[in-house]
Amino acid sequence: MAVLDQLTSQQAIDLENKYGAHNYHPLPVVLSKGEGVYVWDVEGKKYYDFLSAYSAVNQGHCHPKIVGAMVNQAQTLTLTSRAFYNDMLGKYEKFATEYFGFDKLLPMNTGAEAVETALKICRKWAYEVKGINENEAQIIVCKNNFHGRTTTIISFSNDPVARKNFGPFTEGFIKIEYDNLQALEEALENNDNIAGFMAEPIQGEAGVYVPSEGYLAAAKALCEKHNVLFIADEVQTGIARTGKLLAVNHEDVQPDILILGKALSGGAYPVSAVLANDSIMNVIRPGNHGSTFGGNPVAAAVAIAALEVVKEEKLAENAERLGKIFREELAEFAKENDLVNLVRGKGLLNAVVINDSEESDTAWNICLKLRDNGLLAKPTHGNIIRFAPPLVMNEEQLRDCVEIIKKTITEFKK
Ligand SMILES: Cc1ncc(COP(=O)(O)O)c(C=O)c1O
Repeated sequence: MAVLDQLTSQQAIDLENKYGAHNYHPLPVVLSKGEGVYVWDVEGKKYYDFLSAYSAVNQGHCHPKIVGAMVNQAQTLTLTSRAFYNDMLGKYEKFATEYFGFDKLLPMNTGAEAVETALKICRKWAYEVKGINENEAQIIVCKNNFHGRTTTIISFSNDPVARKNFGPFTEGFIKIEYDNLQALEEALENNDNIAGFMAEPIQGEAGVYVPSEGYLAAAKALCEKHNVLFIADEVQTGIARTGKLLAVNHEDVQPDILILGKALSGGAYPVSAVLANDSIMNVIRPGNHGSTFGGNPVAAAVAIAALEVVKEEKLAENAERLGKIFREELAEFAKENDLVNLVRGKGLLNAVVINDSEESDTAWNICLKLRDNGLLAKPTHGNIIRFAPPLVMNEEQLRDCVEIIKKTITEFKK
């Protein structure tokens, strides 16, 4: 077989299984093309994408404006490293900081790297501005968080599969219950070594857990009271996904440190960023942090285009409107179908909880049937299916998808 031969689905799966590390368990479907809300498999079957690469493809697959910016920049200058200036990075930094309302941006590539960056900035701020004794800073995080896969990040995960046999772990993290203000208050009281509190505005990977109304605003106020940085990980919830530009905007919260990734490039290219004001970001000086690819000209061009698309196509407004229809329709359906326990979410980040045990394979098997019926989604944890289509979806397509989901679950037999 020549390397570039067209493969059947089974051949592609066999190759990955034989030659690739088994660090994922993909749904058996092999995709070779995407456009807008649709993807096609190698046999030419068309599907609605209801995962959007974990909310990276908010602007839809292969958005012409984003791809155009990428191709144009790729033909001009791709990478200089930060050993030299390039003529795109400053433009992007100005554009993105004004767009999100911060003084400065630190460019990285993946979500996990941006989280690591935020943690480092927070610690350095704690020592140099807040005045915590060296090596004593602590950062509060939430149980059931998902912030990525590096050794430090899994140090404060409570997912045994993500952690087992990867120790020893990084110290300096306190884990509290999510959506529990009392727990946050107790952790902040009588502890002068707290540097920051990091949270996902909605816990995505954990199963789309939406905190109680007012939680984020109250948590931010508590952080302010204790001179602690509020770090919002909006890698999954950000960039119009939940019906606002950022999920924290639902409660008019401006985080001290904002972490972005995924849809910052519309899924075209790995682009992530950390944003903060000067009083925080200025603790970072030459040599403290970096990445060969972070802030490269292609990333800069792609991110500007991707962010422009979000506003030009009113994706936040669309996510807000379609999300309401989705939840209304499925909540109604849940009343008459025993397999669906409930639907929850915000904007177009939603989850359906299947009425079966965490360990059952019912949600997985429903996803296989959804695939057969032309819609791709995947369980997050056990019995929870996340539904997160590209935000360029229109109402007719959404209603079509709702019918596919209802029909599939109605016909489903365990
Ligand atoms: C909230 C959150 N933070 C960080 C990450 C890590 O991003 P990446 O996979 O790009 O490293 C993810 C990925 O799903 C995420 O959902």
